[in-house]
Amino acid sequence: MASVIGSAIEELDTPALLLDKAAFERNLGRMAGFFAGRRAQLRPHFKNHKCTELAKRQLAAGSAVGITCAKLGEAEVLVEAGIDDVLIANQVMGPAKVDRLAALARRAKVRVAVDHADQVEGIARAAERAGSTVGLLIEVEIGMGRCGVMPGEPALELARCIVGRPGVRFDGLQAYEGHLVAVKDRAERERRVWEAFAPAVATRRAIEAAGMPVAVISGGSTSTYAITGQIDGIEEIQAGTYPTMDWMYRELAPEFEIALSVLARVISRPAADRAVLDVGLKGLGHEFGPPKAKGHLDADMPFHLSEEHCTGRSVPDWPLGSLVELVPSHSCTTCNLYRQIHVHERGRVVDVWPHEGSGRPL
Ligand SMILES: Cc1ncc(COP(=O)(O)O)c(C=O)c1O
Repeated sequence: MASVIGSAIEELDTPALLLDKAAFERNLGRMAGFFAGRRAQLRPHFKNHKCTELAKRQLAAGSAVGITCAKLGEAEVLVEAGIDDVLIANQVMGPAKVDRLAALARRAKVRVAVDHADQVEGIARAAERAGSTVGLLIEVEIGMGRCGVMPGEPALELARCIVGRPGVRFDGLQAYEGHLVAVKDRAERERRVWEAFAPAVATRRAIEAAGMPVAVISGGSTSTYAITGQIDGIEEIQAGTYPTMDWMYRELAPEFEIALSVLARVISRPAADRAVLDVGLKGLGHEFGPPKAKGHLDADMPFHLSEEHCTGRSVPDWPLGSLVELVPSHSCTTCNLYRQIHVHERGRVVDVWPHEGSGRPL
């Protein structure tokens, strides 16, 4: 395939995933700047873009200790790319996966979340067979209602299972405030995040008082980093969306700019106020709603998605064949649909980066 580097954006075939280099670099600088000199440091979440080049730039921007990811397959991609400190912020189960995890831990510092003694035992046995040591974070439930043991005695009990067990290393706790990231009112978000983390920090202190050192508590997000990142007892912030952003997160963390868009073409103008674009559900993450048009984020211009169409109403006078940049409601599930991202600067493509971690089921 011919290289598109140097082409004008208008020359790209559609749909194409775009990244505005200047905006994304400002996002990296803004986040790294917040954490400069703080006790808590960044561990950016790879799930946002799944692109190792972008992950390396997040690390190079500073104030970062490693990368977070959601799946073993992503961790393998990161280690393959030379990133040597990776947290899988999730439970890894099943014999084949646990063996892969143990093998990966021979090549890099790998940590994984656990919330049950059976997971600990399975990982420890696999690691003993592989001759490696896997770092474990006990995931503590702080209100999201997803994975995690309850704070206090259940977490202490699990820590006792880990400490001293060959093949695994007790590294601390994970607590994710996912139920609070979309609280619109900033003061309420702040109050509820402090409240949610209090039991996790108390659990840390209890584990330490029982003689088991806790290296980290890892948690946080793009809309809570400035709150969670200031709580005494939290060392790592797993913010994900901030490099690319999307229109949903822009409403929650307006200090970051929307750098990601999907370039689409008007393929039909069946009525004066209606335009149909050549990307649909299969090219736009949409859990938080349909996309918006770049430059018209606040306009009353509703879009409807079907599999391969995006139908806009009350649109401007976009001619047939013209190009429109769409901003998705969810950048993480959008990036996962593409194999590469076109990085552009002043209207020209300056780089094309693969999303090596996208489309990986495991
Ligand atoms: C475990 C975990 N940590 C952190 C995040 C934060 O990511 P973001 O900043 O994109 O909300 C998520 C988001 O899904 C997550 O699942």
